Amino acid sequence: MTVKVRVPATSANLGPGYDSIGLALQIYNELTLSVAEGKQSTVEITGEGALSLPRDGSHLSLKAADLLFERAGEEPPAWRLHQHNRVPPASGLGSSAAAIVGGLFAANAFLPRPFSREQLLEPAVALEGHPDNVAPALFGGAVICCRNGERWHTLRLSPAKGLQLQLALPDLTLSTGEARRVLPEQISRSDAVFNLGRAAALTAALLTGEERPLGWAMEDRLHQPYRCPLIPGAAAAMAAAEEAGAGGAALSGAGPTVIALSFERRAAGGSRADKIAAAMLSAFADAGVECRIISTSIDCSGVILLD
Ligand code: HSE
Repeated sequence: MTVKVRVPATSANLGPGYDSIGLALQIYNELTLSVAEGKQSTVEITGEGALSLPRDGSHLSLKAADLLFERAGEEPPAWRLHQHNRVPPASGLGSSAAAIVGGLFAANAFLPRPFSREQLLEPAVALEGHPDNVAPALFGGAVICCRNGERWHTLRLSPAKGLQLQLALPDLTLSTGEARRVLPEQISRSDAVFNLGRAAALTAALLTGEERPLGWAMEDRLHQPYRCPLIPGAAAAMAAAEEAGAGGAALSGAGPTVIALSFERRAAGGSRADKIAAAMLSAFADAGVECRIISTSIDCSGVILLD
């Protein structure tokens, strides 16, 4: 038996939604999983990260597959994994969440009594450490995540039509661990209030497709002020994207990618998208950083079985 799955990239920490709001993107990794003939798991990787990602049982997809089998009370087999990646690692686009969710979803198909999609969230968060990449990778759309004691609650939204996303991926890598270490343990009440109102406004704007509030509703005081200094050109790229006509812009996940959001009433792309892309490229270039642009939109399906 061979199982093939497609899993989306994700953009976490959307604007004020640190550790709470993430979006699934139409950029996909594909994983093909089967039981290995020998006793050793084998991993083959093509595409993004092919030279840097592990090729043994420490690969995140295989760790996820083993964890799921353990949770089901089954002995995990040795696996044979082929992964074709389009999500660049350590770029702020949820590559580790894609590996985890892809591994869980594929391995689930091998269980005699598979878990529901909803039941995969908890092991996914346990491996990733935060919910705002794995939840949209599982469910698609925009997902709001909240912890209540031992349980995760999620609310999946379908944003209004026409949501266009311009991603600027600087030629830098930033590990989430490093980017979490720079965050303060305590924040002020005024910073909490700053983000609260904006998180509510951003949610409303995503649902209604109202672009006007995005500029201020995407602002953040919980993580960006501490992380932008680690990413030359990021703050300037966000400002330049808005200046060039984007509704709003933010760091994608912990960065270094910058995401710009707009609602296009007409066909995708066009001159506004080009201007936003050029503005972000030039802001990063001014900081001495090369970057590439990906224009994409929201994925509404989350991880799916192929074939
Ligand atoms: N919410 C996570 C963080 C996302 O900011 O650390 C990492 O991609």
